[in-house]
Amino acid sequence: MDYTCYYQEKVQIGTDYNSVAEVAVYDERMSRTRDFAAEVEAAATALRLSSDSVVWDIGTGTSEIALGLARRCRRVEASDISSVMLDYSRTKAQTRGIANVFFHNGGFLAGFYPEEPLDGCITQLALHHLPDAWKMVALQRIAGALKPGGRFFLKDVIFPDGQTDYPAAWQASVAALERHSGEAQAVAYARHIRQEYSTFEWVIEGMLQRAGFSIISRNVTTFLTDYTCEKTR
Ligand SMILES: C[S@@+](CC[C@H](N)C(=O)[O-])C[C@H]1O[C@@H](n2cnc3c(N)ncnc32)[C@H](O)[C@@H]1O
Repeated sequence: MDYTCYYQEKVQIGTDYNSVAEVAVYDERMSRTRDFAAEVEAAATALRLSSDSVVWDIGTGTSEIALGLARRCRRVEASDISSVMLDYSRTKAQTRGIANVFFHNGGFLAGFYPEEPLDGCITQLALHHLPDAWKMVALQRIAGALKPGGRFFLKDVIFPDGQTDYPAAWQASVAALERHSGEAQAVAYARHIRQEYSTFEWVIEGMLQRAGFSIISRNVTTFLTDYTCEKTR
């Protein structure tokens, strides 16, 4: 008899980020299609980083954001459930001579527990790995790890309000992405919608507020939404 109800977050869903080949492909594709300098700037501003800040990047992946933020603060805790991602990122940090990013094999729900209250927390393109009920548990854990007034920056695929025929809207967004970014991105996005757990704007906003955050801003770009939040309770 198995009565365990805790979510098994280390089981990869969708893309397998425990595959060495997949991680290298991911890093190459992201470097080609994203402006990391601009992302780091936006996150540093949202998190109100200072040279003394301590920040946690959850689902750090190939760590471009963690490594960029490291130049703007005292310490970055970078966690991921994929040891392959972490090995890849550690090598990258060493190559770039960055020594204030600390890598941890841990997820949204367990495995890494920050030792001091945090000034900021960021998670990009990762929270969708959890089903909604467990997103709520993760958000409570993030709020619990932050100092009062600490900032949280969340970026992910969030389904907008105002749609009625959801499958048609999702299919249209895959077609739009193909025109915008090509076939590989469209295939990855379709798999994301099929297999992973993106949620609705009204759901995530309700969860953020219930977890103790006030939403300072919401910024919607073509396929992604980011929230800048502050811990108020
Ligand atoms: C699409 S990548 C995003 C990586 C990076 N944040 C970025 O912006 O490029 C998603 C990452 O989340 C990680 N991940 C999946 N489930 C997780 C969990 N429960 N806790 C922490 N990280 C998780 C994956 O291993 C992967 O490295």
